[in-house]
Amino acid sequence: MPQTLKLASRASWLARCFPELWPDSLLKSQARVLKKTHKTLEEMPGPSTMGFFADLFCKKGLSRLHELQIEGKAKYGPMWKASFGPILTVHVADPNLIEQVLRQEGKHPIRSDLSSWKDYRICRGHAYGLLTAEGEEWQQIRSILGKHMLKPKEVESYTGTLNEVVSDLVHRLQHQRSLHDQHVVKNVADEFYKFGLEGISSVLFESRIGCLEPTVPKETETFISSINTMFVMTLLTMAMPKILHQIFPKPWQKFCESWDYMFAFAKGHIDKRMAEVSEKIARGEKVEGKYLTYYLAQEKLSMKSIYGNVTELLLAGVDTISSTLSWSLYELSRHPQIQSALHKEITSVMKDNLIPTAADVAQMPLLKAVVKEALRLYPVIPGNARVISDRDIQVGDYLIPKKTLITLCHYATSRDEKYFSNPNSFQPDRWLHKDGAHHPYASIPFGFGKRSCIGRRIAELEVYLALARILMHFEVKPEQDGQTVRPMTRTLLVPEKEINLQFLSR
Ligand code: HEM
Repeated sequence: MPQTLKLASRASWLARCFPELWPDSLLKSQARVLKKTHKTLEEMPGPSTMGFFADLFCKKGLSRLHELQIEGKAKYGPMWKASFGPILTVHVADPNLIEQVLRQEGKHPIRSDLSSWKDYRICRGHAYGLLTAEGEEWQQIRSILGKHMLKPKEVESYTGTLNEVVSDLVHRLQHQRSLHDQHVVKNVADEFYKFGLEGISSVLFESRIGCLEPTVPKETETFISSINTMFVMTLLTMAMPKILHQIFPKPWQKFCESWDYMFAFAKGHIDKRMAEVSEKIARGEKVEGKYLTYYLAQEKLSMKSIYGNVTELLLAGVDTISSTLSWSLYELSRHPQIQSALHKEITSVMKDNLIPTAADVAQMPLLKAVVKEALRLYPVIPGNARVISDRDIQVGDYLIPKKTLITLCHYATSRDEKYFSNPNSFQPDRWLHKDGAHHPYASIPFGFGKRSCIGRRIAELEVYLALARILMHFEVKPEQDGQTVRPMTRTLLVPEKEINLQFLSR
């Protein structure tokens, strides 16, 4: 607590206990002290509404939102306000201040209003899933899903299923590189979207949906492109005041069509799986499931809620995995020494074994550091958010009124040289030195606390198993030396253009 605040609260206690000893003038000056300890939103710097609007729409600002974090911090300091369309948001771009926000997030943290996602569900009568639910409803779903997604033993039990998907990924990469005389796989993110979708589907349904076959089913391609469209339209529909939705209806329409497709895709797969189970029961066979949808059904969640949750889990498991794998391989291809050290680590753990297990990857510290470093440079969620709905909170010098959308600028903090030396360079070994501890809130790619990523353990296992096996089979090089790919924001942080890599057989 700042010194002035301590003095003021002590003075306030004395005044309440001994009012007769407390002259009026002193009370007034104490009130002035209290008032002066925090500044108000009016005093917070930031661009004018028109300025920010021009940045967003005229200077391709929506896809540069992550860079605007760094520019904002340089211009206004670690806290500033800006109007994102109709929404006023306070940006926080220092780990100490982010910590202050997160430590005050309360019992049922609210990430943001994600109003367009909620509006869509209300409009179509769909249930909220874990990403969109709030309050008691969120708590109930979180504790059900947490039992199967957060416990290490439960997650490890998906290793076999995930490894089968990784085997298909390696075959698919073999096939794709054979189409090119230099063994280049074009646009690796595309391949990893399919891997992400196949991986999360195998966890959710324990069945394969063919994303990694040489001919990819049309519905898979459409599901993946619906996610992309939905993310682009999320930013656009949120930045547009509602009145504009009637004048320019296209973004909202496209947004709804994308969600319609995703909900229908999830429902189709759930219904198919449930029907198989019912048939088994009818035949008197034993039903055992090692997949999430089965557990959800056992928990007696309503079908509507299962549809909502499975749709959101499918969505959450595609771009996140693809982005992390693409950036990890992109950086490894540009840093051959690091790639070779990692290959050495993997082969020394694996010896003659061909398929890594969860226990194997647990013994690969450099592998983990590579992924941590890729997520520091390219946090999949470059700007997360919190809304504290029930009380005003103090952050730094400011009093933030309740219900304000607070944007947590993770991209800016994870590339801040105050917290990471050579912040823009890929140096996984920074995570290996015990003495080089970093600020715990400077890079938090999976978020924080009760509302943090529930898929973290599954995601990490999936990425480690895939990276280890890819590097056992291939040496990865850039298609052309010196070619750089920058990130862009599409709600999530994704590669701005294709990442093309050469996959050479080991
Ligand atoms: C490398 C991959 C991933 C990254 C970097 C990532 C990152 C994140 C982040 C930053 C959040 C917000 C946390 C917060 O607000 O504090 C989040 C939430 C969430 N993630 Fe992930 N995620 C990844 C993979 C996955 C996967 C594979 C799944 C599904 C199996 C998943 C499911 C979810 C869900 C359901 C939430 C909402 C949790 C809640 O609101 O309680 N994520 N993720």
